[in-house]
Amino acid sequence: MPLFGKKDETKVDFSRLPQHVAIIMDGNGRWAKGRGLPRTAGHAVGAETFRTIATYCREIGIRYLTVYAFSTENWKRPMEEVSAIMGLLKKYLMEAIADMEKEKVRFCFFGDLSPLTPELRRLCIETQERSAGYAGCQVNICLNYGGRDEILRAARSFAAQCMVGEKTPEALTEEVFSGYLWSAGVPDPDLVIRPSGEERISNFLLWQSAYAEFYFTDVNWPDFSKEELRKALSAYQSRSRRFGGI
Ligand code: IPE
Ligand code: IPE
Ligand code: MG
Repeated sequence: MPLFGKKDETKVDFSRLPQHVAIIMDGNGRWAKGRGLPRTAGHAVGAETFRTIATYCREIGIRYLTVYAFSTENWKRPMEEVSAIMGLLKKYLMEAIADMEKEKVRFCFFGDLSPLTPELRRLCIETQERSAGYAGCQVNICLNYGGRDEILRAARSFAAQCMVGEKTPEALTEEVFSGYLWSAGVPDPDLVIRPSGEERISNFLLWQSAYAEFYFTDVNWPDFSKEELRKALSAYQSRSRRFGGI
């Protein structure tokens, strides 16, 4: 693997990549508005960006990619926008299945899929089940996902098991608790990227990002490119992760 990106001079050591990259795919609406287009046009281009970045992550050997596609709070948006986002997800998944089988990409969904249309829900579940045995890159799509909701559900499940005597409160460790989250079995993200200039977590991977490195950029998600990803990877590689040590 080359030490430099092809078209540019962003220095990335491809032998020291983060194992798990997470992205808050933000700025679609502002990207569209800035061009005099409807917000949904931004979501459509954003879906293409997702395809480009997910492919690139797989090619360079990033083991886990987690993307924030729709939050538990995004239902507040106008119905037309929510429907357009769901429609794009469906289109993306239907197109991604062939590639997924060829490249052995494993898809997982984090979030409660029950409020989705039965058709989209079935597509998500089928995609997840069909790719469950694939050992290539794992792509986690956060859909109707909220970090607080995830933690509450985990706490509720554990409490319910305590009530029937299957578990005792003393048995609850950080490791055990992680196993109740949507992300069970997935290592914590090493790098969380948020484009669009916003510097907040917006209810994303609250538990899992305890020691993640953050990377913010003003670029909106539809304009996010492989070069932007290389900039984030390069910044990540310049950081000193101490995990509370020295
Ligand atoms: C991110 O882009 C996509 C979703 C939240 C579904 P936005 O739609 O939030 O774009 P901005 O932040 O309004 O520009
Ligand atoms: C976070 O972006 C959710 C997704 C990208 C899916 P938002 O646009 O919903 O976040 P806020 O409202 O700016 O915090
Ligand atoms: Mg936004």
